[in-house]
Amino acid sequence: MTSSREIRSSFLRFFESKGHTAVPSAAVVTQNDPTLMFTNAGMVPFKDVFTGKENRDYTRATSAQKCIRMSGKHNDLENVGRTARHHTFFEMLGNFSFGDYFKRDAIAFAWEFFQDHLKLDPERIVFTVFEGEDGYCEEDTESAKLWQDITGCEPERVIRCNAKENFWQMGATGPCGPCTEIHYYLGDGKPDPRTFGEEPSPDGRGWFELWNLVFMQFNREKENGPLLPLPAPSVDTGMGLERIAVVQQGVLSNYDIDLLSPIVQRAAEISGKTYGGTMQEDDVSMRVIADHARLASILISEGVFPGNSKREYELRRVARRAIRHGYRLGIEEPFFHLCCDKVIDLMGDAYPQLEERRALIADIAQDEEVRFRRTLKGGLDRLRKNTEWNKEGETKELPGDIAFDLYETYGFPLDLTEVIAEEEGFTVDRPGFDEALAKAKQASAGSKLNDATETERVYYALKEEHGETRFLGYDAEESDAKVLGLIVDGAAVDSLGANAEGWAVLDQTPFYGEKGGQTGDRGVLRTGGARIEVLDTQLPVEGLIAHQIRVSEGTLKAGATLNASLDHGWRSAIRRNHSATHLLHWALREVVGATVAQKGSLVSGDRLRFDYSATKPLTAEQLKAVEDKVNEAVLKNTAISTEEQSMDAAKARGAIGIFEEKYGDEVRVLEIGESLELCGGTHAHRTGDIGLFTILSESGLAAGVRRIEAATGLDALSHLREVRGELEKAAATLKSAPNEVNLRIEKALQAQRDLSKEIERLQKEMLSGGDASDPSEAAKDFGGVKVLGAVLPGVDTKVLRERADQLRDKLAPAVILLGAPSRDGKKALLVCSVSKEATKRFRAGDIVKRAAGIVGGGGGGRPDFAQAGGSDPSKLDDAIQDVYAYAEAQG
Ligand code: SER
Repeated sequence: MTSSREIRSSFLRFFESKGHTAVPSAAVVTQNDPTLMFTNAGMVPFKDVFTGKENRDYTRATSAQKCIRMSGKHNDLENVGRTARHHTFFEMLGNFSFGDYFKRDAIAFAWEFFQDHLKLDPERIVFTVFEGEDGYCEEDTESAKLWQDITGCEPERVIRCNAKENFWQMGATGPCGPCTEIHYYLGDGKPDPRTFGEEPSPDGRGWFELWNLVFMQFNREKENGPLLPLPAPSVDTGMGLERIAVVQQGVLSNYDIDLLSPIVQRAAEISGKTYGGTMQEDDVSMRVIADHARLASILISEGVFPGNSKREYELRRVARRAIRHGYRLGIEEPFFHLCCDKVIDLMGDAYPQLEERRALIADIAQDEEVRFRRTLKGGLDRLRKNTEWNKEGETKELPGDIAFDLYETYGFPLDLTEVIAEEEGFTVDRPGFDEALAKAKQASAGSKLNDATETERVYYALKEEHGETRFLGYDAEESDAKVLGLIVDGAAVDSLGANAEGWAVLDQTPFYGEKGGQTGDRGVLRTGGARIEVLDTQLPVEGLIAHQIRVSEGTLKAGATLNASLDHGWRSAIRRNHSATHLLHWALREVVGATVAQKGSLVSGDRLRFDYSATKPLTAEQLKAVEDKVNEAVLKNTAISTEEQSMDAAKARGAIGIFEEKYGDEVRVLEIGESLELCGGTHAHRTGDIGLFTILSESGLAAGVRRIEAATGLDALSHLREVRGELEKAAATLKSAPNEVNLRIEKALQAQRDLSKEIERLQKEMLSGGDASDPSEAAKDFGGVKVLGAVLPGVDTKVLRERADQLRDKLAPAVILLGAPSRDGKKALLVCSVSKEATKRFRAGDIVKRAAGIVGGGGGGRPDFAQAGGSDPSKLDDAIQDVYAYAEAQG
């Protein structure tokens, strides 16, 4: 069996031996193309080379390209899992000629590779060629002849097909041309070429396309526009790696090859089910999960995280489909990230970004699943249990507003609702959904639901015409510039009068377009009598800087020349904060470990924020260590250096950051103290410029993601000053010195705790009623005078005194002797109160003296009131009882 890895490399080596340059895969996230969301074919990164807009130092290239087909002209999403061949993500092997060789060599190379390297059986192969069609081009008789000449095949193996089959276009616009395809037959026995065209069986038996050779001759510049000839006839071929692996590995389905089967198996293991390779729903679900895990891993590795617009939404759509299939399989816990992890095991060597971001991919995938699972069950119930539209015998259609509610409230992408609807035997009112969505968009203009496509087109057109904005702001804060375009509400305008607001694109500018977390700049544009405030600067399309402006005086005209100058203070603060963010990232990795991966950041003129992957909050010591490390680096005051170098050199130096592979690109490597990071932002000159660095907060943002907010320079100082101000206020309230505030608060809190306990105890005592609080029933009569002795535990001297007086008044004429152990239990307290009219016979001082003697103490007082203490509380009862003996004795 030949592994996919071997096929990939033997393909590239073969074409290298034919003079081709092996070019690494470009990102699937298209960099410079408004017409495509994702790279959908091997030729996409070479689009401008075909049209002659870009020149490279080679005319022959070969690549293994990451591709996504889930929207637009080439969309395979609906079929994923339900056929043996469809994927949202796949790898395409290709060879390309840019005005170099043409049909003969292309066909000869393909055949040589098939025969000598893959050793494919010619009797299982047919070739298709373009039969010619109005609006395209004439019949490709040359290719038909070449196949016969070069392969020696029978004429019936060359089959003519129409434009739908054999005229290839990248999208609605772009390079295109007639193509010729090699189709292969999988199954038992030798196939009859006349059976070509019959549908393959769902399990993969039958004819399927293996390799497409496109003869690029035209460019369609406008949608439905005419085909214009390319500068030179060229070649673009594409062969799905997964398909050729099927043939080489002797299996029927793409899902059984070495790149996919282990992911399917992982889904099976987690669900506790066995994968049977059939068209049963469980098997379909496992295949969908495997495919979608590949797509999600690749997109996350390129910095796309699930969200609500564009690519972010596409990723969410696919991830949620997979998660729901897992739910269908009965998987109760988040599992999708475990499947993504398997993807990395299988493809990490070919696409190192996957390996570098392993932890991040797991975190993001898991986070998305945790979020979606919160609403998944509720959403499914809403779908299934709604009887309004699910009545027997009626057209079963889910109303658009319910589909929209599922989208808004439960996070169900529309296509997911449709998939489930189909399974349950009903349809979804799509126009109704669109209407509800449009209404919501109107209600929240400018919110996440607004798509910016129209606006983008204006900017793409400007870029197409004038090229990228020259950014001068690494060095300059001021420059002359020319106004290339003025835009209001997504449309170009000629001028902006006083008080008008809009956007301006200049040929060059010191203003930085918001990117990589660094916010835009502020400043002013001046021309003639006009003064224009710049409120912010954005990057609506890669390389094009747009200034958000308000004309405060005069008129700004398209084509005008002007002077553009930055708000120095704001930019300096941004520089400080940006450099500090790098140091913070570095310090976190030092303190927590290399598992810390950046998940986002915001660098503005007044704050900085850094989000990173971590499962636990920082401890107090870690926080301190991070803050110390950054401040130490600041104090070293080393020069901050920027170097432009190749991606490989940057990687070799150990730089971290998001690596966007783009042909011929030099990357900017920022060295700040010990931090080495790729970055396009603006930075301080020396670490000392940052000034004081202080962490404002550390918090959890989402599952597996923590956020640190921090301040630098004078902002850090004013934060600390604010904290100090609060401390001083607290000290004043407590009437203490600031450094004793804590001690005082501790004491106050302790006193409060004691009081609470005491209140609790008293309440209990009051509730239990009787004895302790009102012992008056125990009083005995001695010749008309009530004599009472009682112990009241837990009562202090003051309360004891009050109770004695109360009881005396209540029982008057009376003699009351009360005792209690002191709170610490070490002493006995005694109090005696005698009604005035009884003092002739009974004297408080005498009574207390006798009783105190019993508890090992002494004391005395007036005839009507006396108190004393003793050292032996255990004798309290005896001492109290003595009052009766005394009364008896007095007669
Ligand atoms: N662009 C063609 C395809 O994608 C050949 O590479 O099929």
